[in-house]
Amino acid sequence: MPNATGRSHLMDIDTSRPVWDRFFTVAPLVLIGTCDPDGSHDFAPKHMVTPMGWQNYFGFVCSPSHSTCANIQRNGEFTVSYPKPSQVLYSSLAASPRLEGHKPVLDYFTTFAAREVDAELIEEAYLYFECRHFKTINGFGPNCLITGEIVAAYAEPEFLRSSELDDQELVHDSPLLAYLAPGRFATIDRSNAFPFPAHMKK
Ligand SMILES: Cc1cc2nc3c(=O)[nH]c(=O)nc-3n(C[C@H](O)[C@H](O)[C@H](O)COP(=O)(O)O)c2cc1C
Repeated sequence: MPNATGRSHLMDIDTSRPVWDRFFTVAPLVLIGTCDPDGSHDFAPKHMVTPMGWQNYFGFVCSPSHSTCANIQRNGEFTVSYPKPSQVLYSSLAASPRLEGHKPVLDYFTTFAAREVDAELIEEAYLYFECRHFKTINGFGPNCLITGEIVAAYAEPEFLRSSELDDQELVHDSPLLAYLAPGRFATIDRSNAFPFPAHMKK
C-alpha cells in the first residue's frame, strides 16, 4: 500500500492490528524470577524490558494473566537474570506451558537464591538484579508495565566495564544476547563507540 505522507518509498503498516510482527526490532532478553503461591520458583522470558530512567528502576511489560504478574502483585519482589547467548534455548524453555499449574521444565534449571528478595536467579547468567516491586501500570490493551527498584545487582566480572579493558574488547570477549523480535536472536560480539555530539547532557 503506498504511503499517505506522499513518500513513495515508504509502505504503510496497518495499525488496525498490532504492528510488531511486521518488522524486526532489537530487544534485550531476560528471565524474570518470581515465587509461585506454593513456594516453588517461576521463571519467564521477557523481551519488552527497559531501564526506567537513569536511576535504579527496572521495568518490563507483562500480561496480567501470567503467573509472573500475580506473583509480583502478591509478593512484591522479583529477580532479573540476563542470559548469555549460550543460554538461549534455556531461556526459551522457561516459556513452556504449565501442566497442572507447574512448569516441569523449571525443575531442570540450576538456580540460586537471591540475597534481598524471596526469589531465585538462574546459574551462569552474566548480570543479575534483585527488585522490589515499585508500581504496576495497567491499561496497555491487555498488558501492564511492571516496574521495580533494583535493591541488589551483581555480574560476572568479565562483563563489567573497567578502566583496564577497552569497551570494544569487552563486548568481543564477553558477547551479549539480543532478541530480534519477533522470533530471532543474535549474538553481539562486535560494536563501535557511539558518536555522541560534543557537550551532550543526559
Ligand atoms: C523470547 C520470548 C520473549 C517473551 N517476551 C515476553 C514479554 O516481554 N512480555 C510477556 O508478557 N511475555 C513474554 N513472553 C511470554 C512469557 O514468557 C510466557 O507466556 C511465560 O510462559 C509466562 O510465564 P508465567 O505464567 O510463569 O509468568 C516471551 C516469551 C518468549 C519465548
